[in-house]
This record gives sequence, C-alpha cells and structure tokens, in this order.
Amino acid sequence: MTQQRLSESGFPLRPVYGPDDLPGNPPEEPGEYPFTRGVYPTMYTSRPWTMRQYAGFGTAAESNARYHQLLNAGTMGLSVAFDLPTQMGFDSDESIASGEVGKVGVAIDSIDDMRRLFHEIPLDKVSTSMTINAPGAVLLLLYQLVAEEQGVSGKALNGTIQNDILKEYIARGTYIYPPKPSLRLVADTFAYCRDEIPKWNTISISGYHMAEAGATPVQEIAFTLANGIEYVRAAIAAGLGVDEFAPRLSFFFVARTTLLEEVAKFRAARRIWARVMKEDFGAKDPKSWMLRFHTQTAGVQLTAQQPEVNLVRVAIQGLGAVLGGTQSLHTNSFDEAIALPTAKAARLALRTQQVLAYETDLTAVVDPFAGSYVVEALTSEIETEALALIDRVFGYGSAVDAIEAGFQKREIESSAYRVALEIDNAERIVVGVNRFTLETEDHYEPLRVDPAIEAEQCARLQTLRAERDNDAVEAALAKLRDAAAGTANVLYPMKEALRARATVGEVSHALRAVWGVYRPSDRF
Ligand code: 3HC
Repeated sequence: MTQQRLSESGFPLRPVYGPDDLPGNPPEEPGEYPFTRGVYPTMYTSRPWTMRQYAGFGTAAESNARYHQLLNAGTMGLSVAFDLPTQMGFDSDESIASGEVGKVGVAIDSIDDMRRLFHEIPLDKVSTSMTINAPGAVLLLLYQLVAEEQGVSGKALNGTIQNDILKEYIARGTYIYPPKPSLRLVADTFAYCRDEIPKWNTISISGYHMAEAGATPVQEIAFTLANGIEYVRAAIAAGLGVDEFAPRLSFFFVARTTLLEEVAKFRAARRIWARVMKEDFGAKDPKSWMLRFHTQTAGVQLTAQQPEVNLVRVAIQGLGAVLGGTQSLHTNSFDEAIALPTAKAARLALRTQQVLAYETDLTAVVDPFAGSYVVEALTSEIETEALALIDRVFGYGSAVDAIEAGFQKREIESSAYRVALEIDNAERIVVGVNRFTLETEDHYEPLRVDPAIEAEQCARLQTLRAERDNDAVEAALAKLRDAAAGTANVLYPMKEALRARATVGEVSHALRAVWGVYRPSDRF
C-alpha cells in the first residue's frame, strides 16, 4: 500500500486524479478575469518573461561591472541587491555598519554612489528592480535624480521597488519605522509615483521571504495577499482612488521544487487577488485586478553539499515559475548556498532561463497545465485554504494587528519546524544531504568580497561631506522633518535633500527623529 503523500501545504496528494477532480467550470481564457491562466492573453507567445538576475555586492563600481556583464550575457532587466547598512538606512561609516559594508549587496550612501552604480547604463532603456524596503523611497528618488542627470524624465522610467515593509516585520527584518508611519510612507510613495513616475511598480508584495522562513505555499500566498489588502486599505485611507495605484502593485513569490503544487499556487493567487480587487475594493481598471509577479527559485532548497546538483533544482523550480505564468524570474546560482555567486555561476543561472525560453516549447503555448486534473484540483484546493487563512489574519482586525500578535510568525515557524524534523528524520529526502551523500565533498573556491572596500567607501563619504554645501543639506533635512511631522507627501522634500547630497543615513535618521523606530512586541 503506497503511503499517501501530503502536499507542501499539508493536504493529501492522491496518486491518481481524474475527471471528477476537475472543479465545476473550466477556467476562463488567458488574460480574462480572474486570470487563472495568466494576466495577458498571449503571455510568452508574444514576449518571454523578464530574465532579471538579482545582483549586487561591494562598491557601486563593482556592481556596475556585474550589471554590464549580465546585460552583455542577455539579461532583460536589472535587479539591485543592496548591502544591509543601505537596507537599514545607515551610512557605511556608521559604527553599526562595520563589517557589513558591501557584503550582501552594494553599498549606496548618496547620489554619487547611485551615479556610479548606473554608469553608462541608459535608464530609459532598462527596467530596474531594487530590493529595498524601509528606505525604498530614498533609493527610488536617487534613481530618479540620476535619470534626470542623464536627461531621462521620471515619466520614462520602468522598474520596481520592493517597498514591502509588512513582510519585513514578519520574516526578513530590514524594517526601520513603526507600522503606522511605514504605511504612510508607502502611501506617499504610491501618490508620488502616480504623479511623477507613472510606469513605476511601486511595491513588490513579497511571499518569497516568508517562504524561505518556512511558510507553506498556502501560507505564502495567504500572508502575502493579506499584506496586499492592508496596503490597498492604507492607500485608500490616505485618499488615493484604488485605480490610481492598484495597476502598479506587483508581487514576488518563490518557486519550490514541488512543481505541480507551485504551478497551482500561482494560478490560485491570481484568481484570489483579481476577485479581491474587483469585488471587495470595486476596482474598475482591469489592470487593477491583475496579479503580476516576479519569482525567485527557492534559495532555502539549495544545498552546500554537491552544489552542482542545485543546477537541476533551479531548472525545475524555474520551469515551475514559467508554467505558473511569472512575469519576471530570477534563477539562483548553484553556489549560493556557499557564498555570493561567482560570475560563472551567475551566468549559468541566466543560461538556465535562456534554455527554458529558447530551447523548449514553453513560450509557444499559454498555461499548458489548463484542464490538468491534478493542477486544476490543486489550484482550487490551495485557493480555498488560502482564503480561509486570509480570514484568520483579518480575524485579528488587520494584517498589522495579526503581525503584532505574532500570528503569521508563529504559523511560519511551526511549518519550518515540521520540515526540519522531516529532513532530520530522512522522511523528506534532500539529495546529497540525507541521502545519496559523498564521503568527501569536492573543493569549491567561493567568491570573496574584499574587506578593504569598507575603508574605501568611508573615505568616499568623508570627501562627499567635505565637498557639499552642508548648510543646504541641513536646511533640506529640516524641511523633510517638518513634512514627516505633518501630512505633506515626504518624497518631495526628501528628493531635494538627496539632490543636495544628503546621505541615505541622514535622510533615514531625519525620519527616525520624527517617527521613531519599530520595536517588535515581545509577546512571541
Ligand atoms: N501581452 C501584453 N503586454 C505584455 C505581455 C503580453 N504577453 N508581456 C509583457 N507585456 C508588457 C507589460 O504590460 C509591461 O508593460 P507596462 O509596464 O506598460 O505595463 C511590459 O510588457 C513589461 O512586462 P511586465 O511588466 O510583465 O514585466 P516586468 O519585468 O517589466 O515587470 C513585474 C515584472 C513583476 C511587474 C515587476 O514588478 C518586476 O520586475 N518585479 C521584479 C522584482 C524583483 O526582481 N525582486 C527581486 C527580489 S530579490 C530579494 O527580495 C532578496 C532576496 O533575499 C531574495
């Protein structure tokens, strides 16, 4: 008797699915509400997904070199990784930054660094994602200032800032301000982009990091969409019309190796979001109903043991994302469980996408799993379970109330603990880790970031502070503090401070002085 297997979300997987497992009606056509089969009628038949490799380390000059390498290798969009001091709103020469400068991403302290980061990259010709949350508005404005220096108007800019503070409280941790001012800053950013950078995707509401922390597929989309609902409510409460900002909301999910359930997860997420936006929020613009998303293959499923095996995992995960209708994709490098990717590993990761796009028939057909007994059944099952979990979140009042009560964190941690036990007991096979292992691993020479770059970055900051008009900077920061204390949109005075060469840390400290910092409740 074969043991019945459970899905990653915890419901039984039957060995055989058949016609009786198909939900009531077949799904609508691709590009039709509620978009189960994809947000565009033609999907990849008219344009492949964006191959957008997350990259960034060391100084702006080093990352600029990597971006040129990726663009030359065929990447279709840029995706900036920032170091932790930048992500937390500290300057490279602050003591708290010591040892982290340029480590997990690029160090950006000022407009000077941003200019170096995009040296000889025409900002009207690329779309750039920036993984930046609490200081998301700051880095967006630096990007816009550098574009203006290139003669490129904000109206011509394409890209995304992650700007998703709620998942930072739940899983990732790069938060600064308490929830209320953070949601105000997100709403200000929506309003600013509506008027100044209309083609910019103002937020990338992320499930990836909660998945990496242990969330199941159902938890990943339920907690992400609940956060999305919270942002929509905050923007409407700030006076924005839902169709003024909703078309520029975007999402970010993981792709696990369990391909069938992942394809169903993406299809369920699109259907839930479309109905929430049209039926609950009354959005009229079809673009407000579309859940457009980026996918990254599952970092947590990479192994340090036999790292080449990760090439296979990433290919399967990337395949799942494409079969699920992603708009943009990052494929992990096989060595990322060991260190930042080497140039060769990063190129191989991109080549994986190019094989999927140009050597398979995946771009010839839209949503090939439509009508599949198992995928349609899983899509409905995941949708039902996710809707029930979203209701549990709002049973606390709001997604923020649930976060403050530790609900999402507790649910994710218990899922993570279950998986860890399954791996430890070898109930869950991880090839090369608890089965099919090697006596001695092959040697692998990882990429190392030169620690000297910290001193180099601090010297650059010293020069900037000596050269700039410090009175003008102080005056601009005072105006920013006044706006933060009032109700005016803070992005306008923030942009003028950055133009005067105020640093990311100084701008973030100005907001800290008015809004304070988030302290997680110790109730969990
Ligand atoms: N038919 C019609 N139009 C189509 C089409 C089709 N088949 N395919 C594409 N298009 C159009 C789109 O409408 C769009 O036009 P518009 O901008 O005028 O609407 C244009 O072509 C570009 O297509 P997409 O918008 O689908 O693709 P993009 O790549 O530009 O945008 C996105 C994708 C998901 C909406 C966007 O938000 C994005 O790029 N997100 C990336 C986020 C990201 O990279 N995050 C990295 C996170 S790493 C991280 O968090 C850290 C680590 O710890 C994991």
